[in-house]
Amino acid sequence: MKQEPYILRDLFFKHVGQTSSSPLGLSIVKAEGVFLYSDTKRYLDFISGVSVSNVGHGRREVIDAVKEQMENYAHLMVYGEMIESPQVLHAQLLASILPSNLQSVYYVNSGSEANEAAIKLAKRVTGRRGLVSCRNCYHGSTQGAMSLMSSEKFKNAFRPLLPLVEHITFNDIDSLNVITDETAAVIIEPVQGEGGVQIPQGGFLEALRERCNQTGALLIFDEIQTGFGRTGKMFAFEKYGVTPDILTLAKALGGGLPLGAMVTSNELMKAWQTDPPLGHITTFGGHPVCCAAALASLKLLLKEKWIDEVERKSLLIKKLLSSHPLVKEIRAAGLLIAVDLKDEKLAEKVLYLLLDEGVLTDWFLFQPTSFRIAPPLCITDEEIMIGIEAVRRALDKLTL
Ligand SMILES: Cc1ncc(COP(=O)(O)O)c(C=O)c1O
Repeated sequence: MKQEPYILRDLFFKHVGQTSSSPLGLSIVKAEGVFLYSDTKRYLDFISGVSVSNVGHGRREVIDAVKEQMENYAHLMVYGEMIESPQVLHAQLLASILPSNLQSVYYVNSGSEANEAAIKLAKRVTGRRGLVSCRNCYHGSTQGAMSLMSSEKFKNAFRPLLPLVEHITFNDIDSLNVITDETAAVIIEPVQGEGGVQIPQGGFLEALRERCNQTGALLIFDEIQTGFGRTGKMFAFEKYGVTPDILTLAKALGGGLPLGAMVTSNELMKAWQTDPPLGHITTFGGHPVCCAAALASLKLLLKEKWIDEVERKSLLIKKLLSSHPLVKEIRAAGLLIAVDLKDEKLAEKVLYLLLDEGVLTDWFLFQPTSFRIAPPLCITDEEIMIGIEAVRRALDKLTL
């Protein structure tokens, strides 16, 4: 499938749907470890495909698992009808590292679908209709998940959306009183990703858990961006010591392949089976090849010491970058890092300067003054130095 880059570029704009008038448009031919390669240039991956490639690119263990599963079988039947060993073994391993109330895994295709499933299950088991989410949250782009957003800019054109959605403010305990005994569920990212890495403080998550217990609302943690070691623990809820009733996962879950999951107790999960039966239907959810990749990737995360090193690497990045005069603040939850600059224009420009320097970073949906650093967890100190020196050079150019 090799094709001249300039021809590919033309075909890309002609035939592949775009959601932005200025996509990055890099044509990558290979990815390995923490580097992406075009025909002419190497890029250091400082975003992991937005918190997906936690184990790095091209891991032999993941490739072998995918090949082996393709040789055995790919798709057999719609979700849940067959006993497929990659699913079962992955669910068992995942359950073994989760608390006793999170032992049943429902597989889907994406993060949005995991959140759709979670809010549906919450409505079904509580018999309530109200949903509460956080200002500046991002839970996905399907109509249900999008209804949870507070940003009118992103959702207004798509109304009507789900009714009865209310918002709390991250870290504002006083705002929790919008959660009532009519609330089916509160859905929240324990660290807000697209909000620009907002970290829970002042007992906020504990107070939220308490309020959910008082009102009978289910607590859903969306760990689609924070899961699988990104914040320095396998899951952010462990780091902050608050356990949800439902956990949603995707991104790094699939080890580079598309996979999502909604995890809850065996008791709550049973509600999918009755009134109505087939509470959520998905053809490809938990695809055996994706689950084989997920299993290999989870085994790698458990075997290697990358997660133990996340906090130290995070501090190293902070230390190397915080003295730059253009850096106003750095918010970090492990290797999910927001570098806040003095204004939006600077944050916009720095990405393009970094591409010239051979470093791939990204912005945040709801924090225009920041840019993101979220490398694969396996990044070495030397690779961090390469990236941070490039960031400093790019910032120097902006200072001139
Ligand atoms: C916290 C969070 N939830 C949900 C999603 C949606 O996931 P997907 O794009 O796989 O539907 C994202 C994607 O960026 C996310 O960051």
